[in-house]
Amino acid sequence: MKPASLNLESLLVDRLAPAFAAVAGGPVDPVVRRSRHADFQAEAALAVARRLGRPPREVAAEALDRAVLSDICTAAGVAGPGFVNLTIADDVLDTLLTRMAADSRLGVPPAEDPETVVVDYSAPNVAKEMHVGHLRSTVIGDATVRLLDWLGHRVVRVNHLGDWGTPFGMLIEHLLDLGESTAADELSIGDLNSFYQAARTKFDADDGFRQRSRQRVVALQAGDEFTLGLWRRLVAESERYFLTVYDRLGVLLAADDFVGESRYNSALAPLTEELDRLGLLTGSGDAACVFPPGFVGRDGEPLPLIVRKNDGGYGYAATDLAALRHRIDDLGATRLLYVVGLPQRQHFELVYAVARQAGWLRPPVRAEHLGFGLVLGPDGRKLASRAGDSVKLGELLDEAVARAEALARAKSPELDPVELAEVARAVGIGAVKYADLSSERTRDYVFDWDRMLALSGNTAPYLQYAHARIRSIFRRAGGGPPADARISVADPAERALALELLDFGVVVGTVERTLEFHRLTNHLYEVASAFSTFFERCPVLRADAGTRASRLALCELTARVLRQGLYLLGIGAPDRM
Ligand code: ARG
Repeated sequence: MKPASLNLESLLVDRLAPAFAAVAGGPVDPVVRRSRHADFQAEAALAVARRLGRPPREVAAEALDRAVLSDICTAAGVAGPGFVNLTIADDVLDTLLTRMAADSRLGVPPAEDPETVVVDYSAPNVAKEMHVGHLRSTVIGDATVRLLDWLGHRVVRVNHLGDWGTPFGMLIEHLLDLGESTAADELSIGDLNSFYQAARTKFDADDGFRQRSRQRVVALQAGDEFTLGLWRRLVAESERYFLTVYDRLGVLLAADDFVGESRYNSALAPLTEELDRLGLLTGSGDAACVFPPGFVGRDGEPLPLIVRKNDGGYGYAATDLAALRHRIDDLGATRLLYVVGLPQRQHFELVYAVARQAGWLRPPVRAEHLGFGLVLGPDGRKLASRAGDSVKLGELLDEAVARAEALARAKSPELDPVELAEVARAVGIGAVKYADLSSERTRDYVFDWDRMLALSGNTAPYLQYAHARIRSIFRRAGGGPPADARISVADPAERALALELLDFGVVVGTVERTLEFHRLTNHLYEVASAFSTFFERCPVLRADAGTRASRLALCELTARVLRQGLYLLGIGAPDRM
């Protein structure tokens, strides 16, 4: 048995596996799951029976006969077509819960083999407004960083800013046209999207401007100081804007985490030469590609990763190869995570394949693309503003907070203005993040204000409200549970809550592997729902002293799980709302 493990599932697996193995004559996963008919159920008998050509109920009965369970279960029986139903003894639940309550980490041990993980996320583009895709990346990346960090990994945050490339020719020329030289220090490019659009429009319509823009790119790439100065201003102005968004969102990304594409410029030529030496490069003229085996396009033709373009310039893919090498060789990462929309899946698969061919990416290092779907409007199409263009993140977040404030004001008129502002921020921003994280990552989801801000259902406000409700119980009780409180469950609602709470570490472990945060949101929702049933059925403050202490301790453990879970999602848990 694993020392101090609160994991009931693995405890049962440890007991059942040898029993099933004896019946089957070989190793068997007992397939233990939570069940609606008992606390847990083991499903292995069905598959074993098929293999042995025996009746499943008979196999289940025989395995049950051999398994040592009496110290864990009060009931164990064969049910239905051949399931083993298992009921955990109350005193086992009591012991595990009391242990969990006494642990500052809620029974979740730090990783046995902590590793260096690079998380590449947010990554907006200079001189452009962030869009909702960047919002998804930022929110999912932030949760990834928090969870892996809590588990003891060394997490390196990387904001792979799009700060290089041909558009900078036109952007810099546009900046000059606006009279940069007159306003030497006071650079304001104002609304980033219109700045970009204006440059683009001129580029498309005006031959002279296009000509100047091309020359400007050449000057930029040649390292012309005047041009680089203008470029740096554009980057600095954009970084300032992105940092205000991160601040509003309450994510951990900071100025130090900006590692723009331009940082890899000097590595691109040597990297290309190395690919050439390895015999991987196929070229014609200035263009150079790698064709990793196994990648074909829709037309059946082999797919290239374009390392150097026709014009001799290096692009997005070469930069990603250089970044990957830097993360492995210089940062010592063994897990590389890329939180980027699904349309870039093939790009990353090609990059990883080439890096493997070149021998840069090999076990134990893994690279994973954490792809995500689109954010849709109520019409089922890509979320857009009323005018039809892309939604501005700042305005979206303002609206979230304003809506949350109206709700909080109506629900809790007693909050003072400072508290109201805090609650509005936690609830509004939390609702937006939760709506994102509670959707399956690879799916599209519909952005729906009313649903994400609802006080009931699988939403941030519902969880935050459950947490605040527990805090209010403590305020009325004049404090939390007594220090020596021992948890003792008896009522079915207490048991149901206990089983959910004990699942927390299991779920966190699953999310560590899969980085599918909807599993954590679903779990927290189950905890909050079980708490709500418990609180309806089981008096806390009116119970006799022993029961009251136990129930207060159960309340506190619930609040801690909710707060920690929300923290891992990057969501605040106000004390009142
Ligand atoms: N800037 C890119 C975009 O907006 C995302 C970059 C993602 N990260 C990377 N290493 N390619 O689409």
